[in-house]
Amino acid sequence: MKEFKVLVTENVAPEGIDILKKDPSVRVDMKVGIKQDELKKIIGQYDAIITRSGTSIPASLVEDPGKLKIIGRAGVGVDNINIEAASKKGIIVLNAPTGNTLAATELTLGIMLAAARKIPLANDSLKAGKWDRKRFLGIELYNKTLGIVGLGRIGSNVAIRAKSFGMKAIAYDPYIKKSKADSLGVTLYENLEDLLKEVDVITFHTPLTTTTKNMITAKEISLMKDNVIFVNCARGGIVNENDLYDALKSGKVFAAGVDVFEKEPPESNKLLGLENAFATPHIGANTMEGQEAVSVIIAEQVLNALHGRPYLNAVNIPFMKSQLPEHMQRYFNLTEKMGKLAAQVTKGRPEKITIVMVGKNFEEDLCERKFDVPFSYQPFTIAGMKGFLEVSLKESVTHINAPYIAKDRNIIVEESKTDQFDKFNDLIIFVIKTDREETSIAGTVFPDKLGRIVLLDRFHLDVVPEGNFLHFRIFDRPGIIGKVATILGDHHINIAGFGLSRQKTGEEVAFVSVDDPIGQKALDEILRIDGMIEAKAIDL
Ligand code: NAD
Ligand code: MLT
Repeated sequence: MKEFKVLVTENVAPEGIDILKKDPSVRVDMKVGIKQDELKKIIGQYDAIITRSGTSIPASLVEDPGKLKIIGRAGVGVDNINIEAASKKGIIVLNAPTGNTLAATELTLGIMLAAARKIPLANDSLKAGKWDRKRFLGIELYNKTLGIVGLGRIGSNVAIRAKSFGMKAIAYDPYIKKSKADSLGVTLYENLEDLLKEVDVITFHTPLTTTTKNMITAKEISLMKDNVIFVNCARGGIVNENDLYDALKSGKVFAAGVDVFEKEPPESNKLLGLENAFATPHIGANTMEGQEAVSVIIAEQVLNALHGRPYLNAVNIPFMKSQLPEHMQRYFNLTEKMGKLAAQVTKGRPEKITIVMVGKNFEEDLCERKFDVPFSYQPFTIAGMKGFLEVSLKESVTHINAPYIAKDRNIIVEESKTDQFDKFNDLIIFVIKTDREETSIAGTVFPDKLGRIVLLDRFHLDVVPEGNFLHFRIFDRPGIIGKVATILGDHHINIAGFGLSRQKTGEEVAFVSVDDPIGQKALDEILRIDGMIEAKAIDL
């Protein structure tokens, strides 16, 4: 039986660890709090690592990944993991995005109330023996406008609860549909500045990305009303800490509730010295329910990925093949084969891959936008890239690293959709441009559910792309095809199918499917036939 080694580097709830341990093929090593240099030494011995936000996985840790195939993050944020570096090595990064949503939502509301009513200060004052009621004059949330930046899982749940306080919820999130905001009764703003001018309370629920880092600085704060309450239970750095400090100190901002910091733990952070900054040590996810949920989710998905079963929540792949509709999965497989075929029939150095999706079947956006990865291609584009690249790079190419490999090789990748194409209702066209030529291959899935290549440049074909083929181009004159068949027979290569396309140019293109691979000797003989323009053995 194959053994998988899983390393756990943080305190992950026991429920998930038990799931891992119950799998007889899994050995779990707990090394909570392991130092980076020690981790670097051993990480390559493990098939999977499970972390929370306290273990940083920089590029240097995965540059020589050994056995490592999976990084599992028991939580949402993956800003502690260098996704690009992991992706380039084909490592799957999984998270548990739904497990702690309500925990973080409730802390957001808690910290909002704490800041509005100065509850922690009042508590400290009373316990210090004082009875000082005047000092703790707060602000009511009722009738106030709450600005939610990032209307995803947590932002939406905050909106629902804030409305029960009688707050008006408005949001800024350029990536969600207006209909989603409408269904929550939240007014969606087109730009952040307009929202900032309206809010009495503002709360942040975006990931930390290059766009959200320092989203709020002194400039943005100056646009806001006086006496606003700030809440950040998402990630430190979304709101510039120095500028928030100045605004709290001057009294421009009434109070802030902060669970997350630019540097954690926050050594000598000025915010912690302010009376009107209420802070918690990144405990948004820390409820018994939340920790159990993320632990179970990540353990189950890591096991699925280890065993090659369909898994959920991969951060560095914008779709899951197993979750695509069946019909789309057939197109996915077909496009991968088209990429493979393109790589074998095209001459020259690749410069650009274009995927054109034709027909109503492709109207829906099948790519879930992930904010931690730079690419958001449709599944077919990734499949085509992988198929194309793996011909020269073999098994090191995966659906995860294909876009990075293409980028590294300066191959431009473009995708488009159209419904303008005669003859076929649905079609995928794969175009490869090299420094020598441009080749286009089109494929469609027939009612018999088999994907077929139907066009290779100007030649019409009807080829199920599976197995070994001889592809050749000849002058359109008698006797050549017979000679090809004789050579194949002499080499004991059985012909399984034959497709021929005649062109006005006086050429014919043939796609012969054969039961066995065609060796170089047979191919050389075929190439020597008088009238043969080119011939290639193709492996699909
Ligand atoms: P989510 O992916 O469901 O939602 C994030 C939302 O942010 C998305 O709707 C996205 O469209 C939006 N967004 C992305 N870039 C944006 C931008 N530039 N401007 C405006 N909106 C933008 O994630 P979630 O589960 O709601 O988590 C939100 C954040 O909370 C994450 O950063 C996560 O790490 C953090 N979190 C913190 C804790 C904690 O312990 N404090 C716990 C859980 C989650
Ligand atoms: C998360 O992103 O899930 C939270 O920050 C919680 C955590 O890191 O444990």
